[in-house]
Amino acid sequence: MSQVNLMNLVRDKVKALKAYHVETIDAEIKLHANENPYPPPPELFNRLQESLKSFQLNRYPDPDSQVLKETIAEINRVPAESIVIGNGSDELIQLILQIFCDEGDAFAFPDPTFAMYAIIGKGLGLNPHPFPLNDSWDFKGEAFLAFLAEKNARVVFFSYPNNPTGNCYSANEIKKVIEGFQGIVVLDEAYFDFARKTFIDDIKKHNNLILLRSLSKIGLAALRVGFGIADPAIMEQINKVRLPYNSNTISQAFAAQVLRDFSPVKKQIDIILTERERLAKALSALPNLTVFPSDSNFILFRVEQEGEKVFENLMKNGILIRNLNAHPRLKNCLRVTVGTREENDQFLAQLVKIKG
Ligand SMILES: Cc1ncc(COP(=O)(O)O)c(C=O)c1O
Repeated sequence: MSQVNLMNLVRDKVKALKAYHVETIDAEIKLHANENPYPPPPELFNRLQESLKSFQLNRYPDPDSQVLKETIAEINRVPAESIVIGNGSDELIQLILQIFCDEGDAFAFPDPTFAMYAIIGKGLGLNPHPFPLNDSWDFKGEAFLAFLAEKNARVVFFSYPNNPTGNCYSANEIKKVIEGFQGIVVLDEAYFDFARKTFIDDIKKHNNLILLRSLSKIGLAALRVGFGIADPAIMEQINKVRLPYNSNTISQAFAAQVLRDFSPVKKQIDIILTERERLAKALSALPNLTVFPSDSNFILFRVEQEGEKVFENLMKNGILIRNLNAHPRLKNCLRVTVGTREENDQFLAQLVKIKG
């Protein structure tokens, strides 16, 4: 038996980290993780069940996810060589930082934004630099470019739309950064299907641009499928560090089926978009509450009383949303994912009770 001092072995930068907190409370109504509230449409599910029989689960998956890449290539009219599949887009964020940054290097993002950029970067020993968004959750390209130069940033992340604020930044300001920055620009379009705005056409013009998409928000969160699109020269580098079997057989096959036959999922997205407008309107009608505009499948709002208490009260009543109070710019802010009509109604009814 050996008892070594493990803490002496762990890298200092890792010791200083805190694990990403994922809410695992089993609430009846889960509106905290920006998932699709609907399961995959039955016709798609039945087809997957059928194809399961032909899967060789004793064999490794296709290391290059070729069929899935070709499906994505055809839909998005880009060459398959410009695509990489990730175990969720989180994995791709890590790979990008891994290939473009050495330990101690700087990278940046407008803030507040998706917490994983900083968490992943710190885990790799990098220095994250948040750039404060203005009160409309937007920024000016020139100021951001000056910040990137001052920090000597190698990579910049734009969550477009931005999680957790919900909005898309001004496309013109992003364009200024793409054109003026000599490093890598990552356009994280995890919520593309709800915003339907994209920078995909800029990939051909700018070899330093990487687009990220996710299937987690449109119904396949459990399968962990994300993909990246960029110049094939970038993919060549990513493929050197990517683990060969990072995407499993079931995820590859189901993702390809869902993307090929997208109309049932699109119907779900359309319902979610209608519900988003209804939910935003109902929230805006409540007193002492500020609702921020959303291009996503979630809504950020600020309450005047203690956000913490509102969050806990909802949780006591089986409704889990996201409490963002810990961020200094998001005091008393909460984020609610658009659920089914019934879930949204229950959430609203409970909120009215708390505020009343
Ligand atoms: C902006 C943004 N990017 C990426 C992700 C990660 O998505 P995935 O499930 O594909 O790893 C999320 C998930 O919340 C997100 O909000």
